[in-house]
Amino acid sequence: MSQLFGDYAHIIIFLHVLGAFVWVGGMIAIRVAVHPSLQEIEDVPTKLGTTLKITGRLFNLVMPFIGIILITALIMAIALDGHHNSLKGIFISKEIIWSIMTLNYIYMYIRRAKAYRAFLDGDFKRAKSLVKYIPNILLPINIALGTIALWLGISLRGY
Ligand code: HEM
Repeated sequence: MSQLFGDYAHIIIFLHVLGAFVWVGGMIAIRVAVHPSLQEIEDVPTKLGTTLKITGRLFNLVMPFIGIILITALIMAIALDGHHNSLKGIFISKEIIWSIMTLNYIYMYIRRAKAYRAFLDGDFKRAKSLVKYIPNILLPINIALGTIALWLGISLRGY
């Protein structure tokens, strides 16, 4: 594994950081730019349907990147002996952050999928209530955790 990291460190760190900015950046863009603009639409079905579709696309986009972050993270953790060196607290913190972010993501993914089915059945009230915590609680939690993971990533570089 050390040999693998030694030979491919550039691409491994590149993929890790690429995954982070697609995942965290995607959530920030949806939360800060897309969602508030959609709320200005007055027609409820159009507003709800468009919000659900955009969120669904983001969730599908980030899925492979969540896996890429984990695979590259594990390669680095093993290669750098991250669970036994002086930085082990940071390695473990990042692993915990990744796990919480992924569980939160899975929860949001399932809620959105159920909401979209309710929306297609014409049950707008149920659809709305299924996703009501996503923009104001669940997405901000993952944005904050992703930002902390970025901060800790820089600490792992030794700065
Ligand atoms: C699963 C646990 C994780 C481990 C073990 C881990 C490990 C690492 C390591 C070793 C580095 C330093 C790479 C270098 O040598 O420059 C790093 C950097 C980084 N990590 Fe993670 N990581 C994990 C999860 C995450 C998550 C969840 C995110 C964000 C969503 C993230 C974002 C970053 C970023 C942006 C950097 C680059 C920081 C810089 O430019 O210096 N990491 N990570």
